[in-house]
Amino acid sequence: TQGIRVVVLGQGGVGKTAMTVRFVTRRFICDYDPTLEAIYKHNTYIDGEQVHFEILDTAGQEDPQSPNLEEKIRWGDAFIIAYCINDQCSFDEIMRFKFLINHTKGSSAHAPEVPVMVVGNKRDLELDRMVKTSEGEKIATALGCMFIEVSAKESHEEVRTMFEKLYKKCKACQALK
Ligand code: GTP
Repeated sequence: TQGIRVVVLGQGGVGKTAMTVRFVTRRFICDYDPTLEAIYKHNTYIDGEQVHFEILDTAGQEDPQSPNLEEKIRWGDAFIIAYCINDQCSFDEIMRFKFLINHTKGSSAHAPEVPVMVVGNKRDLELDRMVKTSEGEKIATALGCMFIEVSAKESHEEVRTMFEKLYKKCKACQALK
């Protein structure tokens, strides 16, 4: 069995818990209390190999400047930085989270590559869209991250693809212990 630790970052309310719970339970549950932090554990198969996910769903009100958050980032192998397509502010926060990952994990030419995926959630809210898909792609490319848009509400497949791609990237750059 291969293990992977994923840390889910992003502003409060973007759907970090909804995406994580969707992946783990295949269900969408609409209303939670604003997250108290939790680690979700989930076993699945990817390309015939058993993979054990540990997913840290961070509390949204967590300030990117908090020393606390650095500790969690050190724990992770791979990262999701989520925003929601109907909230420009959540999109504007992406860069701060990425810089914090760079700062904590190192980003020099010699540092190992750290797999990060920028995720635009709530793709189902097309009528309220404020962030274009092309803008998401652009920032992800500029920051050296992967990119995907998903709907935790409507699609288990999309959310699963997101976690699978992150895992495959980890394997490819040997970010796993
Ligand atoms: P914090 O725990 O406060 O950081 O929030 P969070 O990022 O974990 O967000 P959460 O999963 O609690 O979702 C916030 C709200 O957005 C909830 O009311 C969810 O039902 C809703 N939501 C999450 N994902 C989606 C989605 O894909 N589409 C739609 N329409 N709503 C969503």
